[in-house]
Amino acid sequence: MPAISATAPGKIILFGEHAVVYGRPAIAVPVAQVRARAIVSAQPSAFPPRVRIQAPNIGFEAHLDELPEDHPLAAAISGVAKTLNLRRLPACTVRITSTIPVAAGLGSGAAVSVAIIRAFSAFLGHPLSDEMISGLAFEVEKIHHGTPSGIDNTVITYAMPVYFVRDQPIKTFRVAKPFTIVIGDTGISSPTAVTVGDVRHAWLVYPEPYEQIFDRIGSTVQSAREIIENGDPKDLGKLMIANHQALQELEVSSPHLDRLVEAACNAGAWGAKLSGGGRGGNIIALVEKDKDLIVAEALTASGATRVIITEVRSIGKPT
Ligand code: MEV
Repeated sequence: MPAISATAPGKIILFGEHAVVYGRPAIAVPVAQVRARAIVSAQPSAFPPRVRIQAPNIGFEAHLDELPEDHPLAAAISGVAKTLNLRRLPACTVRITSTIPVAAGLGSGAAVSVAIIRAFSAFLGHPLSDEMISGLAFEVEKIHHGTPSGIDNTVITYAMPVYFVRDQPIKTFRVAKPFTIVIGDTGISSPTAVTVGDVRHAWLVYPEPYEQIFDRIGSTVQSAREIIENGDPKDLGKLMIANHQALQELEVSSPHLDRLVEAACNAGAWGAKLSGGGRGGNIIALVEKDKDLIVAEALTASGATRVIITEVRSIGKPT
């Protein structure tokens, strides 16, 4: 059996994080510059036959049968076995590597799940459809995040820009004029489960003001979609600022994120906001094509530990 490899990109949320958990729309795009990879190779001489999992980036090595069912890596592999109705798995090694920073809002957990599910199902001779891969990765997201919206597994599985509404069929959108985004990492890891859980607690206590903020974010997302499809991307800048302010009100920003947003705007970005769960992780800044390096330098000077420049285009072309 030849070794089978699959990769999955990172992602950024352009507009709508957190509110998307509560049924409002959000817009997300894949980030091809960072990727998770899973390689599955047969170990025919291993006895008894077991599935060995290796994740050298994080110094992890274990056999599937030693891990609890709710271990995210085990859940991705077992999810494939259950879907294919396989009780016995062939002896093999699943090796996972990733260049996506962990707990940084770039979808590292979902990308690892998608890469494993895609590679493992192909290795077993039954490659799953994108819909099934995304569905299984969503089950693993529940272990990571508690109450995920499903946006991360969707954008990462389909690897194309998505306009996402929870529990509705996936929609993509046309990008009238490609635009450039600079991603700046605070270097602070912040698990999405924590910020999503904190927003939920606050929403349970103060439902009305939180619903109003979610509504405001939802209309910002709709305006953003109209501009992306028909307008001048420059006009997305003020919507990004409005979305960042709403996220501040949800208390998921942080002084580090605010500092990077301000640095990007001072360096000439049309707008900027945190992206993903918040409190740490990344900001995204919308820039004129020839200002990308200036904004990237300003972010680095203000403490960003890593900067990625990416272009958002219509489906089929890498971002
Ligand atoms: C995380 O990338 C985006 C959040 O909205 C959580 C989710 O949608 O599951 C914060």
